[in-house]
Amino acid sequence: MDCKASRILFFLSCACFLHLTRPSKLSTNILWQGEKLNFGDFLVANSGEASLSFFKPSNYSNNIYLGVNSLLFSYYVWVANRDTPIQDPKAYLILDEQGSLKILYNKDRDSIVLYSSSLEAPTNTSITLTDKGNVILREMNPDGSVKSDFVWQSYDYPTDTLFPGMKLGINKRTGQRWSITSRRTFHNPSSGPFTLGMDPNNTNQLVIWWREMIMWTSGEWDPNQQTFRNTKGLVDFNFTYVSNENETYFKIFLLSYLNIIRDGSIYSGSDTYYSCASNDRPPFQAGCKLPKTPQCRKSQQHSDNSLVLPSWNGTGKMSMEGFKFDESENLTISDCWLKCLNNCSCVAYSTTNEDDSGCEIWSITAKYVATNDGRNIYFFPVKSEATSKRRLILSSVAGGAAAIFMSCCICFVLWRKHKAKVNRKIKQEKLLLEIGGNATPPPAYGSSSKVKFGTNGGKTNHDMHIFSFGSIATATDNFSSANKLGEGGYGPVYKGKLKDGQEIAIKRLSRSSGQGLEEFKNEAQLIAKLQHRSLVRLLGFCIEGEERILIYEYMPNKSLDFYLFDFNEKKVLNWRRRLCIIEGIAQGLVYLHNYSRLTVIHRDLKASNILVDDEMRPKISDFGLARIFRSEDNEEKTNKIVGTFGYMSPEYAMSGVVSIKTDVFSYGVLLLEIVTGKKNNNCYQTDGPINLIGYAWQLWIEGRASELIDPILGGSCSPSEVLRCIHIGLLCVQEKATERPTMLNVVSFLSSETIQLAQPNQPAFFNNIVVKETDVLPVSYGSSNDVTISDVNGR
Ligand SMILES: *[C@@H]1O[C@H](CO)[C@@H](O)[C@H](O)[C@H]1NC(C)=O
Ligand SMILES: *[C@@H]1O[C@H](CO)[C@@H](O)[C@H](O)[C@H]1NC(C)=O
Ligand SMILES: *[C@@H]1O[C@H](CO)[C@@H](O)[C@H](O)[C@H]1NC(C)=O
Ligand SMILES: *[C@@H]1O[C@H](CO)[C@@H](O)[C@H](O)[C@H]1NC(C)=O
Ligand SMILES: *[C@@H]1O[C@H](CO)[C@@H](O)[C@H](O)[C@H]1NC(C)=O
Ligand SMILES: *[C@@H]1O[C@H](CO)[C@@H](O)[C@H](O)[C@H]1NC(C)=O
Ligand SMILES: *[C@@H]1O[C@H](CO)[C@@H](O)[C@H](O)[C@H]1NC(C)=O
Ligand SMILES: *[C@@H]1O[C@H](CO)[C@@H](O)[C@H](O)[C@H]1NC(C)=O
Repeated sequence: MDCKASRILFFLSCACFLHLTRPSKLSTNILWQGEKLNFGDFLVANSGEASLSFFKPSNYSNNIYLGVNSLLFSYYVWVANRDTPIQDPKAYLILDEQGSLKILYNKDRDSIVLYSSSLEAPTNTSITLTDKGNVILREMNPDGSVKSDFVWQSYDYPTDTLFPGMKLGINKRTGQRWSITSRRTFHNPSSGPFTLGMDPNNTNQLVIWWREMIMWTSGEWDPNQQTFRNTKGLVDFNFTYVSNENETYFKIFLLSYLNIIRDGSIYSGSDTYYSCASNDRPPFQAGCKLPKTPQCRKSQQHSDNSLVLPSWNGTGKMSMEGFKFDESENLTISDCWLKCLNNCSCVAYSTTNEDDSGCEIWSITAKYVATNDGRNIYFFPVKSEATSKRRLILSSVAGGAAAIFMSCCICFVLWRKHKAKVNRKIKQEKLLLEIGGNATPPPAYGSSSKVKFGTNGGKTNHDMHIFSFGSIATATDNFSSANKLGEGGYGPVYKGKLKDGQEIAIKRLSRSSGQGLEEFKNEAQLIAKLQHRSLVRLLGFCIEGEERILIYEYMPNKSLDFYLFDFNEKKVLNWRRRLCIIEGIAQGLVYLHNYSRLTVIHRDLKASNILVDDEMRPKISDFGLARIFRSEDNEEKTNKIVGTFGYMSPEYAMSGVVSIKTDVFSYGVLLLEIVTGKKNNNCYQTDGPINLIGYAWQLWIEGRASELIDPILGGSCSPSEVLRCIHIGLLCVQEKATERPTMLNVVSFLSSETIQLAQPNQPAFFNNIVVKETDVLPVSYGSSNDVTISDVNGR
């Protein structure tokens, strides 16, 4: 296959990976008609941010669901069959001959139809998982062109998370209502009691229902101010309104998502909760309609009419059975609180099932016994003693009714904290077990003991495995030198093998490296959040005493410099593979630079920090120097310069100015190195000693740039393709940061030859700064001779 053809393939969903890998559902985002998606198979979005698969959310039941996991949150943001779980692990998803999308189970005797095709003539259909986690059904013509797109899409059937592109509203033609509904419990994704949707009474407002009860209204849409009456000033409720003869809906605008959580609060992409009453969340200012305090509880109110809250005294059990509500009522802890509130003889309540659903209430005759392994039981104050009870005075209480609801929230928070503690314990115990021998799915996801995002004090929660020092010592044979892979700027890297056979890479941070706890945590937390095909995955870490260790997935094929700069090894890097690497790194950087609303700047991008897997796909490693910026155009001056000579942009090397353009510069250097197979830091004798950038520039202006091409590639590639790469490389290393493209630009330059490129100006290169090979230490994972400089004080 020639380069051109492979290039085209590549840009069709990076198919270059496809023909290098054995066929696996993991590497594709498309399921064709007739293909099956079995339990254990994954469709993965090109962005790496989402996957579609069957999953079993809990150990407590055999229920299996089909859903889309957002890898950024490790949370199933869409569940296809939330209220119709299946138990058959041999179930599969298929687009049948008619083009209907269905889950078949129980030996094909039963099915759940997600989309029923009305076509008589069969066409070639497929479903695609988009970067943002939408499952789209397409019908194709026999010639392969798209006949109709969006025939069906999962975004039309939201679960509990609203993403840009989803609607809240009403389809007037079909009567379908678009809304999001909370999940029942953490372990159970079926429909819970709270729903956010559009008022069906033509009033242009949003409503949160608690079952049939209206709990909150947004107030009418104000078309002039583009906001709701009751959400003025709440940036997270940035909606657009659309109404025509077919449909009326609100569409969320620009925000990453809204999620309705299990106590009826709204959690937003900006890490904020909104709920009708709470002391730890911004309340909705207006529009709340909370349950009324029944007459019999009036004596339990404080003098300001707020209710004395139920308390949670730890785990325990009751001396006798209480009154259990019918399981089919599908009650949650919030519902149970309301049941107890409204039953005047109720003094205590609790959930009944292992998955935290169900409801049981007790009267005063039942006595509480504290036990370590019991349930969480919540107490309403006993009437006559009400005044002697501990009082929780909460400043933000708007009235008696608000307090009632708040009590629910507080119990919920307490319960959640407790649950998180229990989960943590379970998790640690099962740690090594969970890592598991197979790499699909990412071990950090899909396990039942994970805490979902947004439930951790408003911070997004990402799970990592915490390894014991003992297990790491065992895995590396006591850090034996035979297992040492290399020595990086921050300490040695070892290869290890877990009990179950999984290979891991272990970075043991040296005590003298100056790597403080803070930097360590920074790196660990960052990488754990960042999940992308082109990034090395952090599996976990270990802190014990002075030890700071990071555990990564193991890359058997060393780093890019090992191949690129070795005369014999570089033969495996044909042009097709180099192009895939160039593109892969660019996509990884786009992801880093645009992750959520944060910007992650690598700052030490170089060939030895690009690891390659056994299909020669690039994986960016070493995020220890990364910093998070709130917005993309942020520049920061830092007085601690970390980076590698030759890859550092002039403004960074000289003044410590960091921006995403710092990485663009390093990428440009890397790109030139990949095309030429030469190191930037080597000396290129022309009229004087200059580095690769200078050399490339000289040949470029003399119209001889094709001489830069690595001779080993021979005539096997179209020069115009290589020249375009050199052109892009030169744009990336421009002296002025503003003249460098963004990584997003770079990706589009690479993918479309019709985009006109600007002429480069003279790039930044330093005639006299050439680092001599002898001056530097051997570092890193492969055979690099570039040294990472840390702790150099800038001006
Ligand atoms: C999950 O189920 C397995 C097998 O039934 C059991 O051994 C394990 O303890 C369970 N884990 C949890 C967290 O309940
Ligand atoms: C549908 O189209 C794809 C790509 O064009 C092809 O690989 C597949 O075999 C086709 N399937 C059927 C059933 O025609
Ligand atoms: C819509 O109208 C029905 C019937 O009048 C009423 O019960 C319901 O509360 C109204 N919904 C809202 C959100 O006002
Ligand atoms: C909604 O987003 C637009 C576009 O960025 C912005 O101009 C507007 O201020 C936002 N509105 C609110 C209420 O945040
Ligand atoms: C409404 O639906 C009809 C039939 O599908 C379509 O022709 C028309 O363009 C739609 N109108 C709008 C405003 O989308
Ligand atoms: C719960 O704790 C409070 C104070 O800590 C105590 O007064 C009360 O008796 C406890 N309730 C039960 C049922 O143990
Ligand atoms: C309880 O949930 C099941 C499905 O999960 C549903 O079929 C049933 O109608 C629900 N019961 C009530 C009372 O809502
Ligand atoms: C109220 O609670 C008591 C137990 O505390 C129970 O026996 C009774 O059936 C409940 N009444 C209702 C209407 O649920």
